[in-house]
Amino acid sequence: DGLDLVLRGGTVVTSSDTTRCDVGVRDGRIVVLGSDLPAGARVIDASGLLVLPGGIDSHVHIAQPSGPEVVQADDFQSGTLSAAFGGNTTILPFALQQRGQALRDAVRDYHALADGQCYVDYGFHLIVSDPTDQLLGQDLPALVQDGYTSFKVFMTYEDLRLDDLQILRVMAVAREQGALVMVHAENFDAIRYLTETLEAAGKTAPFFHGPSRPIAVEREATHRAISLAELVDVPIMIVHVSGRDSMEQIRWAQSRGMQIYGETCPQYLVLTEADMGRIHGEGAEMEGAKFVCSPPPRDEASQQACWEGLQTGVFQLFSSDHCPFRFRDTAGKLNLKGRSSFRWVPNGIPGVETRLPILFSEGVAKGRISLNRFVALTATNHARMYGLYPRKGTIAVGSDADLVLWDPERRVTISQSLMHHGADYTPYEGLEVTGWPVTTIVRGQVVIEDGVLRGAPGQGKFLVRGLSEHARPHAPAAF
Ligand code: URP
Ligand code: ZN
Ligand code: ZN
Ligand code: ZN
Repeated sequence: DGLDLVLRGGTVVTSSDTTRCDVGVRDGRIVVLGSDLPAGARVIDASGLLVLPGGIDSHVHIAQPSGPEVVQADDFQSGTLSAAFGGNTTILPFALQQRGQALRDAVRDYHALADGQCYVDYGFHLIVSDPTDQLLGQDLPALVQDGYTSFKVFMTYEDLRLDDLQILRVMAVAREQGALVMVHAENFDAIRYLTETLEAAGKTAPFFHGPSRPIAVEREATHRAISLAELVDVPIMIVHVSGRDSMEQIRWAQSRGMQIYGETCPQYLVLTEADMGRIHGEGAEMEGAKFVCSPPPRDEASQQACWEGLQTGVFQLFSSDHCPFRFRDTAGKLNLKGRSSFRWVPNGIPGVETRLPILFSEGVAKGRISLNRFVALTATNHARMYGLYPRKGTIAVGSDADLVLWDPERRVTISQSLMHHGADYTPYEGLEVTGWPVTTIVRGQVVIEDGVLRGAPGQGKFLVRGLSEHARPHAPAAF
């Protein structure tokens, strides 16, 4: 049988090896790795390029409502297009349960939005905002068994937060089913108190988003989440860790043998709280809103701590937390991001297209992490953590042919004009990076070739996921 596709002459990189070899693809899978493979129906010259497992971004928000009339800037078509241009072949967005809604109905709604629209493969994490007896007893276990094997709980946000009792109950279901719980760790009441206090003092500019949720707010909630997980004996993932204090909580738990995992994001490596204070250009008093996300970017020492977490293995995942909103509407009027007080600025920034270049440039090109660690942090570990390995996340015979050709020398200045997302800005405008994805291949189909779109929406398929390799509890249930 002939090969459908051969990538010739590239340097193949996995989380453990770097090898000069060709990659042979048939029926969407990698079927042979070796030198001088016979030509396939199609041959792509990869000489001078790295051949990487396609990026897996396991933390993105697409088409997710974030409060009354607050809609995101990406639908599944633009979000996955942006992902593909950024060198990703799989994303894991969220299916958000709204209070009073059955979780099954939420899942159905997100499938309807994504079906036939995606350029890359996708699965869904669940967001549990209303853990009724029905949900805990029937719906959630059934959904885990159907391949939705991870869910996120929020310790803050009026419409999403669970109290500690509810979190414990959700964790118990995760333990029983072998699912992985992702935790948004910030103290709800502390944020409310600080917001109230800042507003009373007239401090409402976007800059005060940072002071409304300082490091202690995140550290306390991280510690509490870890303690709750200890009580249930369930592994958890602390998502979007912003700096040293929370990183150290996770490291402390890990050093005691607890299965506590961590994720950090580009905004915590290259942005700081000062960005939320930016004022320049016209209509600019709200410009800092372009950087508002939670937890907020902090300071240079925090950036350093996040690097340390990535280098030492405290963090297994590097995700974008892509969550785009428009700053201006198409007529140029201030839009959602430009609302009056930081309290009303929707939290979240775009980043699915810039995650890989930022980590490659700041990490690999600057000598902070190895190329193999880069692959682990951006692809392999996501597949292992969320039940997709070895189908996804590596370059091996039998794995899906999800591949990215990466030009390690290309120098790019990140700019909105290069982006394919639905947002009207990138928070990384002007950042110079070395290294860029040039060709993105999903299950053997070329979606982006040399920076040109060749794919079509609908090529990306829904992924039924297995259980996480890392969500197996230590001990049998004690009671
Ligand atoms: O500000 C953020 N991170 N928005 C996205 C939602 C979340 O909490 O991950
Ligand atoms: Zn979150
Ligand atoms: Zn500006
Ligand atoms: Zn998020």
